[in-house]
Amino acid sequence: SKVIGILGAIPEEVNGIIHSLTNVTEVVIGGRKYYKGLLYGVNVVVVYSRIGKVAASVTVSTLLLHFNVSNVVFVGVAGGIHADVRVGDVVVAKDLIQYDMDASPLRPKFEIPLLGQTYFHSEEALSRKLLASIESFLAIDCLTKHIEPVELRKFNIEAPRVHYGTIASGDQFFSTNKQKQALIDELPNVLCVEMEGAAVAQVCYEFGVPFIVIRTISDNANQEASFSFQSFVQIISLVYGREIVKEIVKS
Ligand code: ADE
Repeated sequence: SKVIGILGAIPEEVNGIIHSLTNVTEVVIGGRKYYKGLLYGVNVVVVYSRIGKVAASVTVSTLLLHFNVSNVVFVGVAGGIHADVRVGDVVVAKDLIQYDMDASPLRPKFEIPLLGQTYFHSEEALSRKLLASIESFLAIDCLTKHIEPVELRKFNIEAPRVHYGTIASGDQFFSTNKQKQALIDELPNVLCVEMEGAAVAQVCYEFGVPFIVIRTISDNANQEASFSFQSFVQIISLVYGREIVKEIVKS
């Protein structure tokens, strides 16, 4: 039967979801607290992994092996890379790449050695279906039901949009234009950057479990990133996470 594993990297990305759970039991494994419960009648296990590819990998492995989840959802924030992507927009992953994997000249840059895979594809039908419901949530008169207009103005969120494309992951927080430009030069199709998605994607691929990754843009992956990120996750990411996961569970 269906059990959805829901991960974020930090408490601010999953707290809104955990507060919506009923019939909760808490289980601690490997220093992480897994919240098992019901979300709108669906069995889920919710956890924050902590930041980075290793943290995310061990957490999703635990969801798969200990909790036997049948589907995996990662929700959280990301830094905007592509010029079309703005703070407050949502990116639904079509596929994910680990931009910091490089075993060349043994294997082509970015390919995971011995797996022979560079891009990991998310569950396409569900991802595409969610584009419409996320777009309705982002309509400004809907968004302002959940978030004060004054908070939205702080981040210049006016007409947020949903995008579908490539997400890049690696163990770096982007806080300079130099980091951002280097990624654009190597991988011009990337929409946003974060630190867990492609690791979760690789583990799910290897276990044959369908997954989706949905990221809200918290910053522009440049000089202002750390300030923007910190205020965004304090105020807004909780609401986006809760409302997006509601759409996922209902679909
Ligand atoms: N997640 C959110 N913002 C990020 C950034 N600027 N770099 C890496 N991961 C992020």
